[in-house]
Amino acid sequence: MVEETRLSVKDFIFPLFVIEGINQKEEVASMPGMYRRSTDLLLKEIEECLNLGIKAFDIFPAYPESKKDRFATESINPETFYLKAINKIKTTFPEACIMTDVAMDPYSSDGHDGLVENGQILNDETLPILSKMAIAQAQAGADIIGPSDMMDGRVGHIRTALDQEGYTDVSIMSYTAKYASAFYNPFRDALDSAPKSGDKKTYQMDPANLHEALIEAELDEIEGADFLMVKPALAYLDVIKLLKDNTQLPIAAYNVSGEYSMIKAAHEKGWLDGEKVMLESLLSIKRAGAKVILSYFAKEFALLNKDK
Ligand code: PBG
Repeated sequence: MVEETRLSVKDFIFPLFVIEGINQKEEVASMPGMYRRSTDLLLKEIEECLNLGIKAFDIFPAYPESKKDRFATESINPETFYLKAINKIKTTFPEACIMTDVAMDPYSSDGHDGLVENGQILNDETLPILSKMAIAQAQAGADIIGPSDMMDGRVGHIRTALDQEGYTDVSIMSYTAKYASAFYNPFRDALDSAPKSGDKKTYQMDPANLHEALIEAELDEIEGADFLMVKPALAYLDVIKLLKDNTQLPIAAYNVSGEYSMIKAAHEKGWLDGEKVMLESLLSIKRAGAKVILSYFAKEFALLNKDK
């Protein structure tokens, strides 16, 4: 009765990986229990999750090297499997809320979120590429666009582009305070999307900085974001709290791949109780002020709470 914070299955967005093909399912080596699935198998997984009460999904594609180029051209190919998968999911389950990812890295031969020239990221030249990607995803049926790229000015650029194309109802969940973190490595394994050279420190935030997140939040809010996201979650609970106290927009937190893998690995070794640590971690993210939690634990949480 006196619990101040209570988790609900409705708090979650479940990130899932999709690959091309039929009847394909591969476990991500560094993320036990997480799979790359072809669209047919992904539909089954989503149906199961919907029956457990999970309403929202964030879908990420894994592309082979052969489809990548400097300009992430494949991302707007109308025949590409990612856009077809989004369309199939949305038409099969119109009640599901589908979030898509906007960044160049899954399609980029450089493995960066922006356009690379002579070892530098070209911020402004990247913006139209991102906007075209967002339009293609909205056209395929996305409800929420998730720009995870961290280019300056991209939220406003994408908002204007979506509105001009008539997608005024499609929301933007901005990766507002996305840190240059070592916790993303298992995800980069899942997508084969690690940078080919350099790192992401010129566009992702410095883990040393807290108040810089307020500048990012203010800009995203002015540019038209509908949600502000903090990522990773557990090492950045202070950032979640700070943003929560300084905006009326809903705060989302991304409980990232490395946070998932650490708990899974320690559980496998018998060093801690994975289920209890999962629940405590998720609770702390909500207690800090997140309204929405993106987590690879969403289904496990839903299964545990099935009969409650
Ligand atoms: C890339 C992107 C990343 C994640 C989501 N989108 C990785 C990165 O920035 O290198 C990480 C998610 C996770 O670790 O779970 N645009």
